[in-house]
Amino acid sequence: PKKKGFRWIRALWRLTYLSAIAGTGYTCYGIWEMRHPEEDQPAPDPSKKTLVVLGTGWGSVSLLKKLDTENYNVVVVSPRNYFLFTPLLPSCTVGTIEHRSIMEPIRNFLRHKKASVRYYEAEATKIDYDRRVVYINDESDIKGDVSATEVPFDMLVIGVGAENATFGIPGVREHGLFLKEVGDAQRIRNRIMDCCETATFKDQTPDEIQRLLHMVVVGGGPTGVEFAGELQDFFNSDLKKWIPDIREKFHVTLVEALPNVLPMFSKQLIEYTEKTFKEETISIRTKTMVKNVTEKYIEAESAGPDGKKQVEKIPYGLLVWATGNALRPLVSDFIKQIPAQKDSRRGLAVNEYLVVKGCENVWAVGDCAVANYAPTAQVASQEGAWLARMFNNMAKTNEIEAELSELSVKQEKAPSKDVRDAVFTDIKELQKRLRRVKQIGPFEYTHNGSLAYIGSEKAVADISWLSGNFASGGTLTYIFWKSAYINMCFSTRNRILVCIDWAKSKVFGRDVSRV
Ligand code: FAD
Ligand code: NAI
Repeated sequence: PKKKGFRWIRALWRLTYLSAIAGTGYTCYGIWEMRHPEEDQPAPDPSKKTLVVLGTGWGSVSLLKKLDTENYNVVVVSPRNYFLFTPLLPSCTVGTIEHRSIMEPIRNFLRHKKASVRYYEAEATKIDYDRRVVYINDESDIKGDVSATEVPFDMLVIGVGAENATFGIPGVREHGLFLKEVGDAQRIRNRIMDCCETATFKDQTPDEIQRLLHMVVVGGGPTGVEFAGELQDFFNSDLKKWIPDIREKFHVTLVEALPNVLPMFSKQLIEYTEKTFKEETISIRTKTMVKNVTEKYIEAESAGPDGKKQVEKIPYGLLVWATGNALRPLVSDFIKQIPAQKDSRRGLAVNEYLVVKGCENVWAVGDCAVANYAPTAQVASQEGAWLARMFNNMAKTNEIEAELSELSVKQEKAPSKDVRDAVFTDIKELQKRLRRVKQIGPFEYTHNGSLAYIGSEKAVADISWLSGNFASGGTLTYIFWKSAYINMCFSTRNRILVCIDWAKSKVFGRDVSRV
């Protein structure tokens, strides 16, 4: 029996060893393949229908990933020539992860498509539905002789995402920082360090030190919570070590208008998050609505001890504004052009096939579309993938229908019964294929769950499992959070870079220099 046991151990060891070799080989091949795109990628074919895709975010890139580009003349327009893995963006604000690790150049990705895709780094400024054109502007610093033009389309996919909501509150755009793009994360990272260094300036007054070191986050949705958690981690593990003078005064406050943070999570996870924040000394101010923002303080309305409304001034050094999404001007302008969209307030109303209501051959995905789902990456990527499948099927359908009409002509002109029967069998076969291809049902979203990092190496997860819900929070969930996001990263390159960044910040700590 001893020998048998050893045999098992040896077999297990061999299996591990072989899987490690296979895994390494697979990763190396992935890297090699990524660096060597096909030399002879066919050029876009203008004789085919032109499919214009606006945006390079979750919705559009997920569509482009699965789209067979040989079927259409594909044109992509976006001011951002990369895809951004937003779930790890809060980690970039404090340097746990470097921003380039979660960016994937759109050029690299498009060079691997079967037929080439034209990409214009530009902002779509207007969609003219009657003329079927999109007006585009080059908004970058370097402009050529032509920096504004139009792109005609036969089919259009709008995936331009959303803007930051400010609800018209005065001072937010001037004094607050958002957290949506790479530039936002860089600005926050610099502002944190600037506040810390300015607070330790010679002869700084105690009130001013207190203000500068008060980090206020407005909005208790997942963006605000994840950022507050990351910031407190940065302070606990690095800032207080390297700048001991700020140790007693650095403070993070999260302000939320509703009675609790993370409203989309289950009650027990909300309580767990609030308890964790309390332990980490992050203050949560719920039922507090910010009404005005000035350079040095916010004005917030809440119920006083007597139940009456009170407005208080809360001084801050850093203000991060994370109160959700608003329409982009391109989308609100398009809504105005389409009578069927007159009641759309939160985005383009789409039907179950993601077609923009009141339009033909115009689809919308992600945060700019309203399809009764939350504006999340999960929804946007499923919508994009579904649309790609639909476009691929549409192309196949057209191909089969053309073949069918050719065959029916052949059948009519058949010289003998035998030939006619043979053609008839082919037609039957094709009709069967056509039915199969056409069998794509409406878009249906599958919710896999919600995940959020809450700081101090803890995360919360509401996972949909076997038609039930499984809620968990803590360090194990944090390990799950990490592995889930590594798995979801866009490319092998991103996965490796993110792992290196995690290891780097663990070994050396986060960088506290300001650039
Ligand atoms: P986006 O991904 O925002 O992409 C929009 C694209 O359109 C961009 O490429 C932009 O440059 C381009 N664009 C903008 N204007 C124009 C124009 N005028 N013309 C052409 N192109 C234009 N969701 C989750 O499910 N899980 C998470 O963990 C998660 N974490 C998040 C963390 C943060 C910090 C943030 C901000 C969001 C997070 N989300 C998460 C939400 C998720 O990122 C969005 O729901 C998702 O990005 C929406 O995808 P989209 O394609 O609609 O838009
Ligand atoms: P959100 O819309 O989820 O939350 C914004 C919060 O700000 C709300 O709770 C609202 O009550 C509050 N608020 C609004 N105005 C306010 C004011 N004046 N004063 C105080 N509080 C105010 O926005 P968020 O977090 O930016 O997320 C946007 C979308 O992205 C959501 O759909 C979210 O689910 C998704 N997301 C998902 C993540 C995840 O799954 N881990 C991470 C980040 C975003």
